[in-house]
Amino acid sequence: MPVVSVPYAFNEEDLYVDLRSIIGHSLFLKCEGFNFAGSIKLKAALEMVEAAERDGVLTPESILVESSSGNLGVALSMIAASKGYRFLCVTDSRGNLSTRMMMEALGSQVHMMAGQEANGGFLGARIEYVRALCASDDRYVWLSQYTNQGNWKAHYRTTAPEIARQFPQLDVLFVGAGTTGTLMGCARYFREWHRPVRIVAVDSVGSVSFGGVPGRRMIPGLGMSMRPPLLDESYVDEVIHVAEADTVRTCHRLARRGFLFGGSTGTVVSGATDWLTRHDAREVMAVAIGPDLGERYLDTIYQTNWLQDLYGEDVLDSDEVAAGSWAATPAPPPRWGRRLDPADRQPQGQPAPSAPGS
Ligand SMILES: Cc1ncc(COP(=O)(O)O)c(C=O)c1O
Repeated sequence: MPVVSVPYAFNEEDLYVDLRSIIGHSLFLKCEGFNFAGSIKLKAALEMVEAAERDGVLTPESILVESSSGNLGVALSMIAASKGYRFLCVTDSRGNLSTRMMMEALGSQVHMMAGQEANGGFLGARIEYVRALCASDDRYVWLSQYTNQGNWKAHYRTTAPEIARQFPQLDVLFVGAGTTGTLMGCARYFREWHRPVRIVAVDSVGSVSFGGVPGRRMIPGLGMSMRPPLLDESYVDEVIHVAEADTVRTCHRLARRGFLFGGSTGTVVSGATDWLTRHDAREVMAVAIGPDLGERYLDTIYQTNWLQDLYGEDVLDSDEVAAGSWAATPAPPPRWGRRLDPADRQPQGQPAPSAPGS
């Protein structure tokens, strides 16, 4: 029985959804949304805050400030509230209303950039604002998720070994790319592992992270309007770009089977499904990382008017959304009243490589 006295002490690390009955391919989705911050960004937030505390950068007088499209902001709000720091989140108009309200409920201040005020789009505008704040008052401490090494180290220490323990025969890992903290932490870990793992990055169409043409992106989380400073492409085997309309369709497809996931998860599952369809993947042990859950997207991805305004009247008319069309096999019977026991899981596996420099 987990009992906690601080909200960041709990994070479900061993929950996977077997998506075979929904997407028609074997794919284990690691669910990272089951913690009090509701997303994978809790891991990066905690690692960065604790490193800043250890380094003496963060003191009781400090005011944390960060640019975030929302989920890191919620995680930092939660940690700041628990540890007694003040926190200002600089976000933009693409963020979800519920995410903003959550940060305010946790006692944080939220500054919303009204538009793409400067060159570099929303992100450039947010970063300029944070820099100006830090220059104006030295109580501000900017963790800078885009450059902070703690961002990828969090996943090297936690996410990747969690997967390695449960899937010792892993062949391919699908990871969404935002700041690329998750991607780089996992890719570095598996590069040192006992067998080759294909690392497939999943990005949104319109993101320039891996080059490509900048375009409109309305779903926060994945994708960047600049090259991510943490990204080292030599660790990435392949990149898949997913159009937002496909993200939306995948989210609805999963929701029709009872799994209400967020936009990042929909993007990763869409990209992974496409990859598995293109490859002869019957014997492939594949895992995808699902960073978020769906409640924060009720007024966007799960709202018909928002969807139709942005992606057209027919966005959900596709056969792909209708229950059954993707499913190669019927849904398994429910296991009422039974907890997943260890026998249902993949065999436990290999020893983990140690963290770099440790
Ligand atoms: C919900 C969600 N998923 C995925 C990501 C991207 O993860 P990373 O920044 O580690 O690349 C973010 C980034 O903010 C996010 O909020």
